[in-house]
Amino acid sequence: MAIRTLSSLGDLAGKTVLIRCDFNVPLQDGAITDEGRIVASLPTLRALLEQGAKVVAMSHLGRPKGEPEAQYSLEPVAARLSELLETPVAFATDTVGEDAERVRAALQDGQLALLENLRFDPRETSKDADDRAAFAGELAEGADVFVSDGFGVVHREQASVFEIAKALPSAAGMLVERELEVLSRLTDSPEHPYAVVLGGSKVSDKLGVIEHLLPRVDRLLIGGGMLFTFLAAQGHGVASSLLEDDQLDRVRGYLQQAQELGVELLLPTDIVVAAAFDADAEHETVAADAIEQSSFGKDGIGLDIGPDSAAAFADAICGASTVFWNGPMGVFEMPAFAHGTKAVAQALTEIEGLSVVGGGDSAAAVRQLGFTDDAFGHISTGGGASLEFLEGARLPGLEALGL
Ligand code: 3PG
Ligand code: MG
Repeated sequence: MAIRTLSSLGDLAGKTVLIRCDFNVPLQDGAITDEGRIVASLPTLRALLEQGAKVVAMSHLGRPKGEPEAQYSLEPVAARLSELLETPVAFATDTVGEDAERVRAALQDGQLALLENLRFDPRETSKDADDRAAFAGELAEGADVFVSDGFGVVHREQASVFEIAKALPSAAGMLVERELEVLSRLTDSPEHPYAVVLGGSKVSDKLGVIEHLLPRVDRLLIGGGMLFTFLAAQGHGVASSLLEDDQLDRVRGYLQQAQELGVELLLPTDIVVAAAFDADAEHETVAADAIEQSSFGKDGIGLDIGPDSAAAFADAICGASTVFWNGPMGVFEMPAFAHGTKAVAQALTEIEGLSVVGGGDSAAAVRQLGFTDDAFGHISTGGGASLEFLEGARLPGLEALGL
């Protein structure tokens, strides 16, 4: 079944539209450091406002523990939204309390309000479906329809994502529609050669996607903190680098499976090893099978893929017609360890076919490294959500919209 889209909701002039966005953006001292998710939400918001709807937007930010915490307030997002849309955005300091009621009552046709962080209410993420349904019911009060446009949270079975879609006539917004359009091209009939580049710190976060993708891809490139578990699975010492001991057997299984399937599994051949996890730490490049022979011995920590590996990865990417990338190659936030991530990003901008950057961290990385969004085929707003989509997992937030 196809997902329900905005047009299924009919004319929205004068209607109150409740919209779930994913405004979970990184903040530093109250300043938004990557506004990609806010910018990506603008087309749907504009479309609703232009139709003359009263728009009530909601989102979570971070992982507060079910009660208000000032550092997780969405107020900076309301301010930025207002600048980007060039229109006032009313901000409610709660979600279903007195202030939300006041803000909603004052809303006129073609105006937008943002509610405070949904996760300040424990019912949003409660394990108890009745609690979540109760919260969804309160959020839905006074609204005519629900639009789901927070692609980054569609893998969460949470009140404002799942239960609410059943409490009101509901449909996907344009951001979700576009994400599905692009990501389906990766799952349905990708053009070959198809390369997937995985990085980030933990193998355990990527198990499902590796399993699902191995039979489907031509090349799998592994970087980031997770690469050390692969090196260790091949019998190499990794000194003090990140290592998930409990995943070694599984990773050995992947190496074996890749060989059987004829998938080219690329691991780095050189590593930038540092004396400590620090931006100014002393560092040197060593062969991937000689990490413990660096000058730092057992204390050495691998923080990036080396230049030979970066060049080999770039070649493997440039020769592909479809590339999906999730997870930085190294600690890109520290300039000394950003080269591998930069080389991979650069290669993605140069391919002829479809390049997709998935995920919060990788998206933030490419922007922080100075690339513009339009240099890539698509930058997904979903991290976990895009991975789970590629895994073929059940996504509650999409299921609730008829997918
Ligand atoms: C994300 O940033 O991955 C999404 O906003 C979902 O957030 P969560 O992982 O805290 O549910
Ligand atoms: Mg997440």
